[in-house]
Amino acid sequence: MSSHSFERSITPFENREALLDDYTPDRFVGRDEEIDEYHEALEPVIYGEQPNNVFLYGKAGVGKTAATRYLLRNLEEDAEQYPDLSLTTAYINCDGFETSYRVGIALLNALRLSENHISESGYSKSEIYTKLWRELDDRGGIVLLVLDEVDHIHKGEDSVLYQLSRARENGNLKDARVGVIGISNDLTFRERLSPKVRSSLCERTISFPHYNANELREVLRQRASVAFKDDGLTEDVIPKCAALGAQASGDARHALDLLLTAGDIARGDDEEVVQEVHVEEALARVERKEIEEGISDLNDHERYILYALATLTAEDETPVRSREIYPRYQYICSLAGHEKHTGRWLRDHLDELGMLGILSVTEQNKGRAGGKYLEYDLQQDLGLVVSALKETIDSIGVHESLSDYYADE
Ligand SMILES: Nc1ncnc2c1ncn2[C@@H]1O[C@H](COP(=O)(O)OP(=O)(O)OP(=O)(O)O)[C@@H](O)[C@H]1O
Ligand SMILES: [Mg+2]
Repeated sequence: MSSHSFERSITPFENREALLDDYTPDRFVGRDEEIDEYHEALEPVIYGEQPNNVFLYGKAGVGKTAATRYLLRNLEEDAEQYPDLSLTTAYINCDGFETSYRVGIALLNALRLSENHISESGYSKSEIYTKLWRELDDRGGIVLLVLDEVDHIHKGEDSVLYQLSRARENGNLKDARVGVIGISNDLTFRERLSPKVRSSLCERTISFPHYNANELREVLRQRASVAFKDDGLTEDVIPKCAALGAQASGDARHALDLLLTAGDIARGDDEEVVQEVHVEEALARVERKEIEEGISDLNDHERYILYALATLTAEDETPVRSREIYPRYQYICSLAGHEKHTGRWLRDHLDELGMLGILSVTEQNKGRAGGKYLEYDLQQDLGLVVSALKETIDSIGVHESLSDYYADE
């Protein structure tokens, strides 16, 4: 038998899927106050009353999407006991829908059966609104529309938010009562909205703070009790994942990912019990994945900055100031055939890459003579950055300093 055959044998898992991102737990722990507040905001629905528009915000992985799925599932189940109550819910993630037009189509399609979906083009914006109002009024009753990651809608393109949150007052709807739930992890999104959109969309604003280590322990225990066999974990595993999750800005996704990856590593090693060493090994893998995902979300010019800094790192020039990065960035732009941005733009984006954990930013203070300035360095392993930039490097050619780090398959 080859060593790469697949066979079931030793596993610490009972139900591994309970650790995946889209699993909605039966019980929601560690968010008591926020869930109470959210519950109260949705309470009118059960009386058939006009729902509040709710705006939910908090950083990545603090349970916004999961809490929403959990509460809406309860609401739908509990609504069934009232024959006079008709409740419809529709959920869209706005990632990829940056205009009101596209959000309108996505909502319409979320409300319709797939055979009645409309295509992405060929209508005017007002036609889309008309179709949407008709769809909503045909359903009547209460309709809750969830716009997750609503900050993906571009600035100045948010008319759909106003239209939806004021549809009844503006006489566009007669039968349906619509409530909008907007969710964002961009804390500046609310300020970016025009005042009239803000006041209608953010009727109830609920903020989800980051999790502390105790709350993460509760969250992990609850998920682990479903995911692992009775003695599938040693005692130190959950506290360790919780502590690391708390360090990673209180992100439950990170903590759960560690637990899942540690389980996979243990299983790969033919171990029936997950131990702290597996978590340590998992940490390197999960961080690597997160950085790769972070880099893959960057736009072309942000990648050019990173490319420039990678070459300087390979040449042992780092840490460097932004004015030393600029000529290299400019050079990379010229290779790519793109117009360069200004030095000011570069500085702003260096700071942003710093906030993403891709670069390190250090302030140097040379006193009166030298003044204060910032220095930048790669926060991550050069090989990892180069492999995450592969697409960009492939398209504009590999800089000589990186030839040792770049694998051209
Ligand atoms: N209180 C909780 N109980 C159980 N699981 C939770 C809890 N909070 C978060 N999770 C889990 O953590 C992961 C991340 O949570 P979620 O997807 O809700 O984050 P989010 O706030 O929507 O983040 P983002 O802004 O990145 O979308 C999910 O797998 C979710 O099920
Ligand atoms: Mg989410």
